[in-house]
Amino acid sequence: MTFTIPDLPYERNALEPHMSRETLDYHFGKHHQGYCNKLNALAKGTPYETMSLEEVIRSSFEKEDTGVFNNAAQTWNHTFLWNSMSPDSNGTPRGSLAARIDESFGSLDAFRQRFKEASVGQFGSGYVWLVADGDKLDIISTANAHTPLTSSKVPLLTLDVWEHAYYLDYRNERDRFTDAFLEHLANWEFAQANYDAIGKG
Ligand code: FE2
Repeated sequence: MTFTIPDLPYERNALEPHMSRETLDYHFGKHHQGYCNKLNALAKGTPYETMSLEEVIRSSFEKEDTGVFNNAAQTWNHTFLWNSMSPDSNGTPRGSLAARIDESFGSLDAFRQRFKEASVGQFGSGYVWLVADGDKLDIISTANAHTPLTSSKVPLLTLDVWEHAYYLDYRNERDRFTDAFLEHLANWEFAQANYDAIGKG
């Protein structure tokens, strides 16, 4: 089968002023589409063609098939990223996840501080993730294309901290970009749905 990427779940200017249309034109239209195109070229004529995207990620990771892994993981990670943001965000979790955030990190402010430290502290390219790890919530960062999908941790929310995610809007200021995500873009309904799906909600 041919791997495809879903449409953005909002218009390309919907996240302004926190993330510009130009950033989404490049990040979604060029980078994300480019990873998917490369994945299709690499998978053609191989057993990967018959697998789901998640199966390709896990299989290529185990085989250390780096080219396929990088492009498959980037295809999946970016779709998860678009869903991790919403034009309707007020930055505040509700429901069971709000209580678990308080239990796990002390407060929403303490969660934001830890998330920001993980973002700024990630050397080079990667992602910051809120994950469910057994009965706990945790914040982890991953390098390059790496994703919690190859571990037992369940991703709930992510932020892409590659420079292509923020350089047009924030130049080198990853901290300011992370603040904007946490205060104005984080899609807590999506995180809650992911949490509910594993039966922890
Ligand atoms: Fe990206």
